[in-house]
Amino acid sequence: MPTILAIESSCDDTSAAVMVDGEIRSNVVATQQVHEQYGGVVPELASRAHQQHLLPVVTAALHKAGVAKHNLDAVGFTQGPGLLGSLLVGGMFAKTLALALNKPLIAVNHMRAHILAHFIEEPRPAFPFLCLTVSGGHTQLVIVRSALDMEIIGQTIDDAAGEAFDKTAKQLGLPYPGGPHLDKLAREGNPTRFPFPVGAMPGYDFSFSGLKTAVMYFLKKEVAKNPDFVQENLPDLCASIQHTIIQTLLRQLRRAAHDHHLTHIALAGGVAANSGLRQALQDEAAVQNWQVFIPAFQYCTDNAGMIAMTAHFQYEAGDFATQLVSSDPRLKLV
Ligand code: KG4
Ligand code: ZN
Repeated sequence: MPTILAIESSCDDTSAAVMVDGEIRSNVVATQQVHEQYGGVVPELASRAHQQHLLPVVTAALHKAGVAKHNLDAVGFTQGPGLLGSLLVGGMFAKTLALALNKPLIAVNHMRAHILAHFIEEPRPAFPFLCLTVSGGHTQLVIVRSALDMEIIGQTIDDAAGEAFDKTAKQLGLPYPGGPHLDKLAREGNPTRFPFPVGAMPGYDFSFSGLKTAVMYFLKKEVAKNPDFVQENLPDLCASIQHTIIQTLLRQLRRAAHDHHLTHIALAGGVAANSGLRQALQDEAAVQNWQVFIPAFQYCTDNAGMIAMTAHFQYEAGDFATQLVSSDPRLKLV
C-alpha cells in the first residue's frame, strides 16, 4: 500500500498528514488565531498564514510519521471547494513537491474527504450509506455508494449549519467561532423556551438564513424592552437556537433516510462536534433503527488525515492529477 503525504489548506486550518499502509501515522493541524479579532475568516490573512505555517506543518507531519520525503509514493492535496487564495498556497506546494520528488499528485475534493474520514478508524459504515456533512462552509446530504461514487441529494440554499451557529452566536456576543461556545451554554438552557422557525425546504435541501433573521429581530425587540435580556437569558437562547438548527437538520435527514431506505447514517464536518446534535442523532437512531457513525473529533474538523484517506482511495483507483500537461488549449508553450 502507498505512503502518502496529504495537505489541507481550504480555509483557516493548515494541515498535513502522512498515511502508511492505509493508516494515519500523523495528522498535524495549525489553526489560525488571527481571525478571532475579526469575528470571521479573512481570506487574505488566511492565505498569508498558510504560507507561514505550511512548511513547518509538513515537516512536523513527516517527522512524526517517521517518513522521509523520498519514501513517499504520492502527494495529495485539497483541490476545492474552499477559499481560492488558501487553496492556491496548499495546491502549489503539493504540485511543486510532487514534481521535485517525481511522484504522482492526487487532487482531492474537500467535501468527499469529510465523508471518507469515516474510513480512517473503526467502526466504518457499510455502503450504501447516507452522510450528513455539516461544517462552517457546507451542509450536504449525500448518498455514498462507494468511496468514489457519491450523490449529493440535498444542500443548503443559503447559510451552512456551522454558519448558522456562528452568526447567531455573534448576535449573542459570543466569541468567534461561536458554535462550540453556543453548544456549551446550551447544555444549561431550555431548548423550547424561545421557539424559532425551522427552515422548511422541499426535498432534502436546507435553509438557515431565516433563523438568523428571526433571531436578529427577536433580540432587537426584547433588548429594546430590557437591555440585559441577552445576558439574563443566554443559556435558554443558546439552547433554543441549537434546538432549531438540529430540528432543521434532522427533518431532512429523516426524510432522506426513509425515502432511500438507508439505515447506516454518517455525520461529518466540524458541527458533528455539537453535543446536542450527537445526542439527537442517537435518540433518533433508537427510534428509526439506524446505526450512526461519527468520526473522532480530530477527523471531523478540517484536517489532512481525511485528505490522505481520500487520496489513498484515489491512488488505488489510479485517479491521479496530471500536472505536466495543461488542460487549457490556449496555452502556447514556445
Ligand atoms: O469542518 P470545519 O472545521 O470547517 C469547515 O470546513 O467549515 O467546521 C467548522 C464549523 C464552525 O462553524 C464551528 O462553529 C462549528 O464547525 N463547530 C460547532 C461545534 N464545534 C465546531 N458548531 C456547533 N457546536 C460545536 N460543538
Ligand atoms: Zn471542511
